[in-house]
Amino acid sequence: MAANIIDGKKVASIIREQVKQDVRDWTNLGNRPPKLQAIVLGNDPASHSYVGAKMRACEEVGIASDTLKLSDTISAQQLEDEIRYFNEDENTDGILVQLPLPSHLQALTVIESIDYRKDVDGFHPMNVGRLAIGQPNFKSCTPAGVLELFKYYSIQTKGKHVVIVGGSNIVGSPLAVMLSREKGDTGKATVTKCHKFTKDLTKHTIDADILVIAAGSPGLITGPMIKEGVVVIDVGINRIADPNSEKGYKLVGDADFKSVSERASWITPVPGGVGPMTVAMLMKNTLLAAKKSIYPR
Ligand code: GUN
Repeated sequence: MAANIIDGKKVASIIREQVKQDVRDWTNLGNRPPKLQAIVLGNDPASHSYVGAKMRACEEVGIASDTLKLSDTISAQQLEDEIRYFNEDENTDGILVQLPLPSHLQALTVIESIDYRKDVDGFHPMNVGRLAIGQPNFKSCTPAGVLELFKYYSIQTKGKHVVIVGGSNIVGSPLAVMLSREKGDTGKATVTKCHKFTKDLTKHTIDADILVIAAGSPGLITGPMIKEGVVVIDVGINRIADPNSEKGYKLVGDADFKSVSERASWITPVPGGVGPMTVAMLMKNTLLAAKKSIYPR
C-alpha cells in the first residue's frame, strides 16, 4: 500500500500563520517588529537559496530581516567583529550564520561568538547543553520541525523505536535528545542513532517504528531496508543533475521514494516535507528571541 504523505508545506504554513498573528499582537502592544539578521559567506547557490527562503518567510510573517553577504575569504577575526556588532545591536533579536562555512573557518568558533540569547538556530553550546538537561533553550529548527510534524499528524513517539540515520549537530544529535527525553510533551521514545560508521545499517533500520534519515546521501534507504508500516521522515535535501529540469537539477531526499513509500505508512516528500518546517520554526524562534521568552533579562 502506498504511504500517506506528511505535508510539511501545509503544516509550515499553519505555523507561519500563527507566528504572523503573534507578531501582530506583539507589535500592537507597541513593540517594534522582531528582527532577524542572516550572514552568508561566499556564493554557494544552495546557501543563498536557503537564506532567500528564510528572508521571504520573515517578510510574510512581519519579521524585519537583513542578509549580510560576506566574502568566503573573510578572516575569523573579521567575521567575529561583524557578529559582535549584531550581538550588541539592540534592534537585532536573532542572528544566524548560514552553514556550511568555508573550510578555513571553524563552525564551532563562529557559533560560539554569537550571543546565545540571539542564537535562533539553537546551535550554540549553551542552547545545546540546556536542551540536554531539559532547560528552556532555542531548539534547533529542523528537529523541532520534525516534532511539530509528529504532533500535527498525531504520530506517537512514546515507547516507539526511533532510528535516526545521521548524527549531525544540526539534525541527528539534537533530534535524538529531543526524542529520548522523558519529560515534556514529545519524546519518550527509544532512540538508536546510526552514522557512517554503523555496521550493517539495515539491521537497525529494519527495526524502526519511525525512521528519520538525515545523512545527505541520495537514495541511501531503500524499500528492503525498512519494515512494513514504518513512519519515514526524510530530512535529506540533495541536488542531483536533471537535464529535463529548467534549473538543470532536482531535489531528492535520502530515501528512494518509490520503494520506501510502498512499505511505509507515512512519508515526508522532498521537497515539501521537512524543509519548509525548518523555516517556520526559525520564525517561531525569532519571535521568542524578540519577546525574550527563553532568556529574560
Ligand atoms: N545549513 C543547513 N541547515 C542550516 C540551518 O538550519 N541553519 C543554518 N544557519 N545553516 C544551515
